[in-house]
Amino acid sequence: VISFVGAGPGAADLITLRGAERLRAADVVVWASSLVPIALLDHCHEGVEVHDSAVMTLEDVLAVYDAHDDGASIVRLHSGDPSVYGAIQEQIDWCVTRERSFEIVPGVTSVAAAAAALQRELTIPTLSQSVVLTRLGGKTSASMRPGEGVAAFAPAGVTMAVFLSGARPDELQAELLTGYEPSTPAAVLSRVSWPDESIVRTTVGELPDAIRSTGATRTVLVLVGDALADVPVPARSHLYAPSHTTTFRLRSTPGSTEGRASRVTDRA
Ligand SMILES: C[S@@+](CC[C@H](N)C(=O)[O-])C[C@H]1O[C@@H](n2cnc3c(N)ncnc32)[C@H](O)[C@@H]1O
Repeated sequence: VISFVGAGPGAADLITLRGAERLRAADVVVWASSLVPIALLDHCHEGVEVHDSAVMTLEDVLAVYDAHDDGASIVRLHSGDPSVYGAIQEQIDWCVTRERSFEIVPGVTSVAAAAAALQRELTIPTLSQSVVLTRLGGKTSASMRPGEGVAAFAPAGVTMAVFLSGARPDELQAELLTGYEPSTPAAVLSRVSWPDESIVRTTVGELPDAIRSTGATRTVLVLVGDALADVPVPARSHLYAPSHTTTFRLRSTPGSTEGRASRVTDRA
């Protein structure tokens, strides 16, 4: 079986239990040294066959899969969650064509790790209820549909997570300014959860200098949007308001405890 495993953002304990288990059981691991810290390989047993995909083409990786039959436990370790800029679809297609068994083990994406590091919720009522994951086009612009990308989404004013774009700070700022005010909060997060993590809080107006100040061009995530403003929330969530009912909680009236008591779940 080939397991496409999300390694998480970097810290070895931010992989899922299932992901760590797959690494423990792996006969072969293909991992991206450029994006996943070597500490993740501590989950593997001694003697595991390891290949570094940073120096491999897709064909090289597929040749590794091909060299083993379905009985082998092969882990392809992808940074963050494999579904986000993971280039797994072409590998899935190969597995389907070759009738090879495969599974996908999700991981903690760098967006989640970045929000945690900033101690912010990305969806705050009245500020932003949407998160756009995107990137600058650049070398891969041919793979981006016209009308898609940073400049296209900026006017919506939602929370935006920009991947793979740290090397082009001025271009990124120019695209963001097509929609966001220069005063809109932004954050530059480099190697979140790695030992040398760096976090710079800034604004769209100051973004290029903030990115340059980190000295990082790779493994940089830029978050943008009013949800990042370091102020109390303007409107609390309806979900936990006493006036709001849900399938699980009745409306509570002033002075009454009905419907308000928290339930202790009996697991026995
Ligand atoms: C090939 S993409 C993979 C994204 C990954 N699948 C995810 O879910 O985070 C690599 C880009 O993800 C972002 N990234 C991944 N890990 C990161 C981390 N620990 N800190 C900051 N950005 C990260 C950066 O934008 C980097 O250029």
